[in-house]
Amino acid sequence: MILIAKTFAGVEDVLCGELASIGAINIRKITRAVEFEGDMEVMYKANLYCRTALRVLKPITTFTVSSEEMLYNEIKKIDWSQHFNLDQTFAINSTLNLSTLTHSQYVSQKAKDAIADQFREAFGSRPSVDIENADFRIHLHIYDDKCTLSFDSSGDSLHKRGYRDLTNEAPLNEALAAALVILSGWDKQLPLADFMCGSGTILIEAAMIARNIAANKLKKRFGFQSWKDYDETLWFKIYDEAIAAELPSIGVNIYGSDISGVVLEKARQNIENAGLEGDIQLSKNPFQTFTVPSPEGVLICNPPYGVRITPEDILEMYQTIGDTMKQQMKGWNCWIFTGNLEAAKHIGLRATRKMHLFNGPIECRFLKFEIYSGTKKLHKLVKPEQGELEN
Ligand SMILES: C[S@@+](CC[C@H](N)C(=O)[O-])C[C@H]1O[C@@H](n2cnc3c(N)ncnc32)[C@H](O)[C@@H]1O
Repeated sequence: MILIAKTFAGVEDVLCGELASIGAINIRKITRAVEFEGDMEVMYKANLYCRTALRVLKPITTFTVSSEEMLYNEIKKIDWSQHFNLDQTFAINSTLNLSTLTHSQYVSQKAKDAIADQFREAFGSRPSVDIENADFRIHLHIYDDKCTLSFDSSGDSLHKRGYRDLTNEAPLNEALAAALVILSGWDKQLPLADFMCGSGTILIEAAMIARNIAANKLKKRFGFQSWKDYDETLWFKIYDEAIAAELPSIGVNIYGSDISGVVLEKARQNIENAGLEGDIQLSKNPFQTFTVPSPEGVLICNPPYGVRITPEDILEMYQTIGDTMKQQMKGWNCWIFTGNLEAAKHIGLRATRKMHLFNGPIECRFLKFEIYSGTKKLHKLVKPEQGELEN
């Protein structure tokens, strides 16, 4: 069957690699998503293993739609009782692009009416809608006058791994944090640090990667588990294989610090939820006093973008980040992920790699700074170059 895994812009290649590793075939990059083929086992594995997928959709049908009436009639042609029962809840999510229909909420509403009316006509009552925790999720993607209707095999977004129930104000999306760790090329052996770790997302995703822990091992329920063709035996076989493939802890190799004791407490709780206490060490420090635990390592950090800080202070903060990396992190590869492109120029070091990513709607850069030790030339800029980070 054909399946579509959704992800962040800029992360499609990483997801292609993840899908190939679980046996998907005919993998094809599309916008913020990857199309692939596989059987039910591949679909279950994509949900369990893919760290950078947000949801895995199974396209069911496509039809032409240029009015709400057409949409209603097409949706009603499908026999919905073949797919879910009266006592299950459902939800519809719609995305529209270049369509004559302009309101996604109204489209979802119309589709919901068609399904509810069909059940009511056949059974005298209808299943309830539950936007937050639906048993059965349906996606409508309308591009121009073509509508693709898909069933959502993931249910709740896959970034909700199940370890983070306490969040600070600007937590990084788990799937994006995993993408950063993978994109950095971290070898899982060198120490890894985040000196502004917040709720610890980068640290936790890194530890899970290092210990080969399946991304969604802790997730309580997936959409496909409410489907009529759910194969529980197959799912438990896949799940048990994932648990058996986990690697034991090698002791602390991942280090996090933050200036805020409150967010560190959240990080501690999340790390405990993920069962990674033995892999990650936390300390309360301003990043300026960060001392490296070994001569070589990898820093991956997403500093504040500056929403709650004045422009002068944020530029100064990024300059200090550059100074700290230069003076205190010799021998390390330092990666900074930021949505503040102006502030990034003030790091004052020449990035040896620049990746364009999006954090939701925010255009971001993932920048690599190689901080040489000894005699190797340090890439230092006297002052930020005009346009240095603009492409
Ligand atoms: C964008 S958040 C990081 C979010 C984190 N990646 C997560 O997933 O939760 C930036 C973090 O920088 C921390 N921070 C701000 N100023 C700092 C400083 N001078 N030293 C260390 N941490 C600082 C904040 O407390 C906040 O937790």
